[in-house]
Amino acid sequence: MRVVGGSTSQLLAQRLAQKFGTSLEGLMEKRFPDGELYIRLPDLEGEDVVLVQNTYPDEAITELNLLQDAVLEMKPLRLTTVIPYMGYARQDKVFLPGEPISARAIAQAIRGQVILVSPHKPSIKSLFPGDVSIVSGKGAIASWLSQRFPKTEMIIAPDKGAIALARNVARELHCGYASMEKNRVDAEHVEVSASFDVGGKAVAIVDDIISTGGTVIEVARWLRAHGARRVYAGCVHGLFVGNSLPRVNEACDEVGATDTVEGAASVASVAGAIVGAIKERVK
Ligand code: R5P
Repeated sequence: MRVVGGSTSQLLAQRLAQKFGTSLEGLMEKRFPDGELYIRLPDLEGEDVVLVQNTYPDEAITELNLLQDAVLEMKPLRLTTVIPYMGYARQDKVFLPGEPISARAIAQAIRGQVILVSPHKPSIKSLFPGDVSIVSGKGAIASWLSQRFPKTEMIIAPDKGAIALARNVARELHCGYASMEKNRVDAEHVEVSASFDVGGKAVAIVDDIISTGGTVIEVARWLRAHGARRVYAGCVHGLFVGNSLPRVNEACDEVGATDTVEGAASVASVAGAIVGAIKERVK
């Protein structure tokens, strides 16, 4: 197995390589004077190649495109592209006339077999031209929470979309779960409400994505205002845009994310789950 990591996913790619008993391939990257990207990979002809790269931020999409092309040009035995965080997945339909289906536009440019980690909606699979497997990041977040805060008494889904994740994490922690009502005011602000009781409890908010932190901060405020004793937060994809991590940290007792988006909050790893999916594919 040969593992190539793009710039968004060096840590995760390294962890995958380690699990396959190999080391990460060297990748040469530089910018031309006009800003265009140049990449060069070692010889991968006839090899079973795993390429790891997000489609976030925007520059990562071009990089993924070039990396795929470089690998395929060398005629590998197989190319499996792991996209730990699929950017643009939330625009998976036309909400208002004149909009693109951004997730489809991005997916169509990605060739061959793909592994996605907890995409915003599993139905995104159908937008890719090739075969797509989905790996869940919920196990990684559940293990982090259960090891770090085994006395968590309730898992909170900030909205209906996070209920399945909350239910799964709650099952692993042997505790209950509940869901808030969320109304998005604008890109950075939400209003939340709920009718369950968190008085004196240690609770953990779980979500697939923390982006601006608007959701998790508002939920944490509500939980504290209603008597929660401890408030933790865990997500699969921690984007923490606009330096929002300190604000989220301030609102919660502790925040954790996986290594799908690498950063200071990446306390859990999805490497084990990805290796499982890769082994399944080559059976
Ligand atoms: C929305 O459907 C997602 O599950 C997250 O709740 C959302 O992306 C979080 O965004 P933000 O951190 O900007 O509130």
